[in-house]
Amino acid sequence: MSKLLQEDEKYTWHPFTQVQTESTPLPIIKAKDATLFAEDGKTYLDCNSSWWVNTHGHGNQYIKEALIKQFDQIDHVIFAGATHPKAVELSKRILDFLPSNMARTFFSDDGSTAIEVALKMVFQYWHNKNQPKMKMMAMEGAYHGDTFGAMSIGHRGYFNKPFEHLFFDVDYISFPTEDKEAEILKDVENQFKTNEFAGLIVEPLVQGSAGMCMYRPEFLEALFVLAKKHEVLIICDEVMTGWGRTGKMFALEYIQTQPDIICLSKGLTAGVMSLGLTVTTSLVFEAFLAPEKTKALLHGHSYTANALACAVACANLDLIEKPAFFKNIERITEQHAAFRSRIKVHSKLKEVRQLGTIIAFEVQLEESDSSYFSSIRDEAYHFFLSKGLLIRPLGNVFFLNPPYCSTNEELEKMYSGITDFLNQLT
Ligand SMILES: Cc1ncc(COP(=O)(O)O)c(C=O)c1O
Repeated sequence: MSKLLQEDEKYTWHPFTQVQTESTPLPIIKAKDATLFAEDGKTYLDCNSSWWVNTHGHGNQYIKEALIKQFDQIDHVIFAGATHPKAVELSKRILDFLPSNMARTFFSDDGSTAIEVALKMVFQYWHNKNQPKMKMMAMEGAYHGDTFGAMSIGHRGYFNKPFEHLFFDVDYISFPTEDKEAEILKDVENQFKTNEFAGLIVEPLVQGSAGMCMYRPEFLEALFVLAKKHEVLIICDEVMTGWGRTGKMFALEYIQTQPDIICLSKGLTAGVMSLGLTVTTSLVFEAFLAPEKTKALLHGHSYTANALACAVACANLDLIEKPAFFKNIERITEQHAAFRSRIKVHSKLKEVRQLGTIIAFEVQLEESDSSYFSSIRDEAYHFFLSKGLLIRPLGNVFFLNPPYCSTNEELEKMYSGITDFLNQLT
C-alpha cells in the first residue's frame, strides 16, 4: 500500500463509507478535463462529475486565472457588516439566470446549508407575520442534504434512522408516477387546505439520490399552482438539477409557475470552491424587515460569500454564457439518447431514464432487494473501475452525468463499460 493510502487509512474518515468493510479509496493525484489520474498510473473518467460539481471538468484554466486574480485583490472578508465586489457581481448576475420574481441572494457553504437557510426563511417568514405554521410538505424519496433540517425533509430510512426522533413535522407526497398524479394532487390540496403548511420543497423533475427517479413537468406545474393557491411557500432545490444538467439551465424552466425560494450549489463554482446560494423574492425578503433585530434572518457562516468562491462562480458564469456550454449539453444529450435507444431493450435492464445530460440505468434484480446496499452496487462499482470509469451506483441504479467537456470518444467508452457490465450479468 502506498504512503498516501496508508496515511489515509490511519487519519481520515470518508463520507458514506463503512470503513471496516469497504476497499481502499482511489488515490487520485491529478485531474484534467474528464480524467482522474491515480498515483499507480491508472486513469479514470469522472463519469459523475465528482458528485455533480465539476461541470466543465477539472483544471479549467479560465477559472484558475480568475481564482489567482481574486487572491491578489481580496481572499475573504466577514460578510456581516462588510461586502465585496464579487459577491455583488455574482448576486446581480445570478438573478439574470433565474425567474423574474427572484430578487435577493443569501450565501452559504454548500447544498445542505443552502437548504437550511431556505427552511429558516420559510418558517421565520410565517413567524414574522405572526401566523406561525409548523409543517413542511416534501416528496417521498427526497434527498436535500445531511444537516438536520435537510434530513428532516428528506426520505426517512436507514440513512437517517438514528436521528429521526429529532426531526420536525413533515408530510410526504408519494412519488408522482403518471398514473397516480391526479390522486396525489387531490390529497395535497386537502392537506394544504388545513393551512398548517409553511412550505413545500421539491427536487424538480429528478429525484437524484432516490435513483434518478424522473417525473413529469405537468405534475410539478400543478403542484406549484396548488401551493400558490394555498399560500404555501415553494422551495425549489436545484442543487443537483441546476447548471444545464436537465437540458435547460434550471429544471424549473420546464414549467411556468415560479417558486418562492431556489437553492443552488454544486455546479455553482464548477467544483473549484464550496459555495451555496439561497435565492428568494422581495416578498419573502421584506417579511424580515422591521425595527426589531429579532425579525432579521439571524443566520450566517464564517465563510459566507467567500470572495475566492464568488470570483470562481463569476468565472463559471462567463463560461456558461459562451455558446460552447449549451452546444456541449446538446451534444451529450443526443449521444445519451442514441445510446438509450440501443441499450433499453437489454434483458438485464428494468428501465433507462434520461433527462438532458443525466442518463440512468436501472438493473433488473432477481431478488426483492433493490436498495442502496444491494450487492450489485459493489459489483458494478468495481467492474466500472476495472474499465477506467468512476461511476458511483445508487443500489441497482447507475447513472452518467459527465462533465460537459467529455468528448464523444469518452462518452462511447462510458457506454461500452455499461454494456459490458450488463452483458456479463448472469
Ligand atoms: C438535490 C440535492 N440537494 C441538496 C444536496 C446537498 O448538497 P451538499 O452535498 O453540497 O450539502 C444534494 C447533494 O447531493 C442534492 O442532490
